[in-house]
Amino acid sequence: MIVLVIGATGKTGRAVTRALASHGIAVRAAVRSADRQNTAYAAGAQSISVVDLESGAGLAEGVDGVDGVYHVAPNVHPDEAAIADRVATAAASAGVRRFVFHSVLHPDDASMPHHLRKAEAERQVRAALPGATVLRPAAYHQNLVDAARSGRLAVPYSLDSPFTNVDLDDVAEVAALVLTRHGHEGVTYELAGPEALSVRDQAVVATDVLGHRVTAEHVSLESWATGPGSNLPEQARAHLLAMFTAYDRHGLVGEGDTLHRLLGREPRTWADLLRAAAP
Ligand SMILES: NC(=O)c1ccc[n+]([C@@H]2O[C@H](COP(=O)([O-])OP(=O)(O)OC[C@H]3O[C@@H](n4cnc5c(N)ncnc54)[C@H](OP(=O)(O)O)[C@@H]3O)[C@@H](O)[C@H]2O)c1
Repeated sequence: MIVLVIGATGKTGRAVTRALASHGIAVRAAVRSADRQNTAYAAGAQSISVVDLESGAGLAEGVDGVDGVYHVAPNVHPDEAAIADRVATAAASAGVRRFVFHSVLHPDDASMPHHLRKAEAERQVRAALPGATVLRPAAYHQNLVDAARSGRLAVPYSLDSPFTNVDLDDVAEVAALVLTRHGHEGVTYELAGPEALSVRDQAVVATDVLGHRVTAEHVSLESWATGPGSNLPEQARAHLLAMFTAYDRHGLVGEGDTLHRLLGREPRTWADLLRAAAP
């Protein structure tokens, strides 16, 4: 079996490539530029296809002869729905048997414009390929591991909002499963982690597991926008600020049973991740 992984050089695409390679599946990595091919090979890809998702250049060659496509959209991209349409239409024209779209938890949440783009992208995928599988993962535990190791979890939203964060490698394991086994065609799965923790809770767990003090600190939206968010395109910055405001109000919580059932084991917790990351 050959699977084309779109976004293969990113955080998600590399995890999915590693999971597929560990199951003996040949990964053709779609990379934006040949300069990035070593990143994809290091994750376990067997071949490379240069694809520009914005223009569609290279897409027909990328999907040619593959059995499956795993579509990971560029992060907070303004044309995400058009990109999804382009990728799914190319896969349908090439007769690709399995197609999985990597969406997000609660894509219909109107308080987050980039989530609504995921909802529209899901509709584009389903229109082209009714048998596609959609995964809706919660935020990844991995987003905060480096910050925990550095001793400071600083976020521009309430330290008490609840999150059912998920291990990206568990999500990648499910990606490999739905690409390689029957019975997941046309289905949408919400993939949330097994526990609801606030950032304050995460700091307490990290202090315990890592053996050094980890603080939880609230930073203002303004200091995020003029600091870490300052180099982003204006629309991406605005949409991430909207996401932080939504997180401030209600966090991001989903149900964990589906992930548990699909994995056939307990999903990994925040403490499990930190134990693996501890020096
Ligand atoms: N982070 C989370 O907690 C989370 C949770 C649920 C869902 N998601 C979703 O997962 C997706 C991926 O997130 P990520 O954190 O893995 O993103 P990422 O690390 O930024 O990776 C994005 C990938 O897209 C590629 N790309 C960007 N523009 C492209 C273009 N024009 N043509 C071809 N390739 C292009 C990038 O290539 P380069 O390497 O060349 O830049 C990279 O491989 C996003 O859609 C996000 O909404 C994320």
